Amino acid sequence: MAVIQRIEELKSGALSAVAAAGSTAALEDVRVRFLGRSAEITEIKKSIGSLSPEDRKEVGRAANLASREIEEALRARTNELAAGEREARLRTEAVDVTLPGVPFPKGHLHPSMRVIDDVVDFFVGLGYRVAEGPEVETDYYNFTALNIPPEHPARSEHDTFFLDEGLVLRTHTSPVQIRTMLAQEPPVYVVCPGRTYRRDSDPTHTPMFHQIEGLAVDRGLTLGHLKGTLAAMARHVFGEELKVRLRPGYFQFTEPSVEMDLSCFVCGGNDPNCTLCKGAGWLEMLGAGMVDPAVLEEVGYDPEEYTGFAFGMGPDRMAMVKYGIPDLRLFFEGDLRFLRQF
Ligand code: PHE
Repeated sequence: MAVIQRIEELKSGALSAVAAAGSTAALEDVRVRFLGRSAEITEIKKSIGSLSPEDRKEVGRAANLASREIEEALRARTNELAAGEREARLRTEAVDVTLPGVPFPKGHLHPSMRVIDDVVDFFVGLGYRVAEGPEVETDYYNFTALNIPPEHPARSEHDTFFLDEGLVLRTHTSPVQIRTMLAQEPPVYVVCPGRTYRRDSDPTHTPMFHQIEGLAVDRGLTLGHLKGTLAAMARHVFGEELKVRLRPGYFQFTEPSVEMDLSCFVCGGNDPNCTLCKGAGWLEMLGAGMVDPAVLEEVGYDPEEYTGFAFGMGPDRMAMVKYGIPDLRLFFEGDLRFLRQF
């Protein structure tokens, strides 16, 4: 019968098309062409109803067998190709875990922060606690409570930025002393790093700069404790072989007051033309003193029972000295070429 013949032709055509297909997408085309809704075999199946009962049976069987064989071939070939395609995809998408990574840019600690960390670490090691206070400060905490009453000439030395009524940008970290003492009973051992502000700008002054305050209040503290503590701190930051000396100083809130110098670690005091100490042999380092009894009284501590020492230092200035940086303004320009050197 011609139809049976035709079915056989279509089947072998389909089987060779299946064998020739090179991808699962090509196989799908073959399926549509030979088994799809308008494929010839499908048409033949649809026309079966109009055949004689004997032919119907024979043609139907041949058409079904042919379809099944083609489907079977398609399935087998699809599995084959899909496995190959999956392998190829895995190969091309593979990640080479032995390749070096993309380097992530490393950050740098600012020289001031290195000194602050160093100093704070030293005091924390001695058992001091870190205390902080606001940068917008009241006139009372910044001056009056520190024994600098309104109208006192000492105020004019502070080059203060005045804000609204009664508020200033703190000119030093000393107000944190007052806040700390008002908040707790003695003994007090705190170190207070932070930003401070003065209307000042030249190679060694910037309107914003850092200070680290320290305060110790306890029974029996003396100037000897102050000197020993600060000398140990200076050697920790600048080098063990350095010498320190105290000179008389003046601050409203300490009595007696001292300034501490560090022996010049560039020339050791032996070079009259030294670029760092300019031949002085000493570098000014910080201000300090025994807490004035008037300040202790102001915060409700009994000056008969307790004594204390306080100190304030400038970590920016210390970093200039430590790293040999000539201009303080470089610290605050944010130039990465500068910062990367430390
Ligand atoms: N607050 C002082 C200043 O800024 C420094 C200082 C602090 C002096 C503590 C003595 C005691 O100049």
